[in-house]
Amino acid sequence: MLRLENVNTYYGPSHVLQDLSLEVNRGEIVCLLGANAAGKTTTMKTIFGLVHPTKGSVTFNDQRIERKLTGDIVKSGLALVPEARRIFSRMTVLENLEMGAYSRRSKTEFQQDLDHVCEVFPRIRERLKQIAGTMSGGEQQMLAMGRALMSRPTMICMDEPSMGLSPKLVETVFETILRIREEGMTVFLVEQNATMALTLADRGYVLQTGKIVLSDSAKNLLTNDLVRQAYLGS
Ligand SMILES: Nc1ncnc2c1ncn2[C@@H]1O[C@H](COP(=O)(O)OP(=O)(O)OP(=O)(O)O)[C@@H](O)[C@H]1O
Ligand SMILES: [Mg+2]
Repeated sequence: MLRLENVNTYYGPSHVLQDLSLEVNRGEIVCLLGANAAGKTTTMKTIFGLVHPTKGSVTFNDQRIERKLTGDIVKSGLALVPEARRIFSRMTVLENLEMGAYSRRSKTEFQQDLDHVCEVFPRIRERLKQIAGTMSGGEQQMLAMGRALMSRPTMICMDEPSMGLSPKLVETVFETILRIREEGMTVFLVEQNATMALTLADRGYVLQTGKIVLSDSAKNLLTNDLVRQAYLGS
């Protein structure tokens, strides 16, 4: 469904992604593991057209997207839950959700999607009028996920959704990811919480300084020596 082939992305002279290739098949949960500064967020930005690769291709549903505008990429069915949540903090919760649905014209569809998001995250329903920036970190994470769902994506990409959350909320986030998959969405997940991510995922990739150094089933990665030493602390 999503394929990156030999992607090379630079920030000025700094060569961050180096011949990166990976793929996510329909219905899968795939995770990308990597330490700080490995290039995980840059991978997400490259997928969403926020930075452009100098070489290589990004394909979504057989369409090349590496030169497309972010808005068009989202319209084609990809949604992003960005790093550090990045909600619109001065807007209300409802306005944030409206932003997620900006490509949707019909009011009925908007209402259906809003109901769906409120069903997945009951807390959001109670807070629709609250200024988003005043919500707790965990609530903001739910909102960021809800906002992504509002574009009715077929595939959802999440950049460290568990970051900074209590163990209980991390569990909620991961349960939500499973639910999203059950509803038919494909999930690409960037995480440093390797244990949780690999427990959920079907497959995973390990990124080190911009290069994929390992790719395997999540089950094998959980017992892989490199993964255990670098990401599971054992
Ligand atoms: N806009 C930018 N300009 C210059 N360098 C950048 C820019 N954005 C990221 N970088 C650099 O690119 C490298 C990869 O950054 P990236 O944000 O992709 O890492 P990451 O794997 O997401 O790390 P983290 O786990 O800390 O979020 C880092 O060395 C970072 O300093
Ligand atoms: Mg990052």
